[in-house]
Amino acid sequence: MPKLRLGVLASGSGSNLQAIIDNIESGNLPCEIAVVISDKPDAFALKRVERHGIKTEAVQSKTFQNREGFDTELVKILNSYNVDLVVLAGFMRVVTGVLISAFPMRIMNIHPALLPSFPGLHVQEKALEYGAKFSGCTVHFVDEGVDTGPIIIQAVVPVLDDDTEETLSARILKEEHRIYPYAIRLFAEGRLEVKGRRVIVKDHPKDEGAMENPQVLPK
Ligand code: GAR
Repeated sequence: MPKLRLGVLASGSGSNLQAIIDNIESGNLPCEIAVVISDKPDAFALKRVERHGIKTEAVQSKTFQNREGFDTELVKILNSYNVDLVVLAGFMRVVTGVLISAFPMRIMNIHPALLPSFPGLHVQEKALEYGAKFSGCTVHFVDEGVDTGPIIIQAVVPVLDDDTEETLSARILKEEHRIYPYAIRLFAEGRLEVKGRRVIVKDHPKDEGAMENPQVLPK
């Protein structure tokens, strides 16, 4: 069976992208990265994939009149690489209906909070300011809202009294690196069924532990 082809969109450092690459290279993720696209030509995400021989593209938003024009270009590129699943990995742009209708329930995002709490930006700081005792991360399908799509998987971390935005972000990021490749693997295995807002994981063996907060993932 041909491997699922991923198109990864990243704006920043790309540590989630690295976690996906590591899982592919160690045989834990039956996918291949067809292309990595960034809206920032100097993003470290693009640099880090070069040594893995992965194709990259940079698309700058300022060359387009509006967000739809930018997304039309993204769709063109993603289709030219025969992408099956679009993976937003630190992609700091709100996507439009143009991208969503081209890849319905085939765009995933990772967000560094427990949605529906703290959508948007600077969310680790917001969780601290609010006084939340737990935060975490969420992998979800992307719909037309901001961080509102059906939730696939979440992981929880404690918020400690002496946390700063940096220490909390680092604790959350560690969990992101664990659950994002896992969510993609569930998709690749055809095990995600979307029923309205709920995403059901099919054939969920008990030994996979608590999916909602998978402290131990299966090998
Ligand atoms: C991650 O924490 C990711 O959850 C967040 O940006 C960071 C990217 O890190 N994404 C968002 O906030 C999306 N709204 P990375 O580039 O090292 O993967």
